[in-house]
Amino acid sequence: MNLSHRPRRLRQSPSIRDIVRETNLHPSQLFFPLFVCEGKGIHKSNEHIPSLVTVSVDQLKTSLTPVVKAGIKAVVLFGVVKKKDAKGSGALDENGPVVKAIKKIRDDFPELIVVTDVALDPYTDHGHDGLFKNGEVLNDETVQVLSEMSILHAKAGAQMVSPSDMMDGRIAGIRQSLDSSSFENTMIMSYTAKYASCLYGPFRDTLSAKVIGDKKTYQMDPANRREALRELHLDLEEGADIVMVKPALWYLDIIADFKREASVPVAAYHVSGEAAMLEVGAKSGLFDRDRALLESLHSIRRAGADIILTYQALDAARLLTR
Ligand code: PBG
Repeated sequence: MNLSHRPRRLRQSPSIRDIVRETNLHPSQLFFPLFVCEGKGIHKSNEHIPSLVTVSVDQLKTSLTPVVKAGIKAVVLFGVVKKKDAKGSGALDENGPVVKAIKKIRDDFPELIVVTDVALDPYTDHGHDGLFKNGEVLNDETVQVLSEMSILHAKAGAQMVSPSDMMDGRIAGIRQSLDSSSFENTMIMSYTAKYASCLYGPFRDTLSAKVIGDKKTYQMDPANRREALRELHLDLEEGADIVMVKPALWYLDIIADFKREASVPVAAYHVSGEAAMLEVGAKSGLFDRDRALLESLHSIRRAGADIILTYQALDAARLLTR
């Protein structure tokens, strides 16, 4: 046959395929989310996701040593506490597990970037990300508390805060508060387009968070695409350093939109439900786990994410450097 185009020429060997690969995946692009709890000697995995772990502060060094060794540059901390109340007072506790963890990690791993989640849901008895009154999540009052929480984390040594609450104006509020406390170098990674997704189950189980009602008055409707651009432009105006899309795989169009529109790095959160589907599917023999993991992460990168938050960061990093 006299074909003028034979695309298969560029697929004929591992070397040529390596040369023409359009997206790369590197451990430095992966952020590792980690849960820190009160107590001692605790290291437990989620029942479906072995790499979604909750550890006490004294176990951090053991848990993070292999992560740092594998070339991962950032850890994202979430607090797990037993005592919860309506105001989420634990969020501002100077002796809480997150503050202790920040200090410990900064001491043990000076080169690691410590990112902290900023939202009230680990600490509230109603499970909402903000202050909750008469069935409503209060916006401006919540931004005030999140600003204080951000300063607390920055003071403890966090280099980056990451508000996951979806209140309006929180990036501006947090930026102003950080700046007026001389934390102008503290970075903000915003959960810019965070959807009211069904995929957060294993995460909420880990926090023992039971939400009264749902989060649809602040998290986005999964049916909406243009609205994400509105959130993006607001976050950029308000000073976000990194913008995030969450979840990842069902929202690749949003990631691609952000990559095209944003002048800052784009992050995507491969959330707990996505990780669980992967592990459970592989366990059932539906596909090969390691291949599924790399294919998922490649797809998220291909859509445009510069950074991927994933519980499977260490597994992926090991696969990539093998
Ligand atoms: C809430 C928050 C959630 C996640 C990160 N931050 C859950 C929620 O909005 O209820 C989910 C992450 C995951 O599922 O891995 N501040």
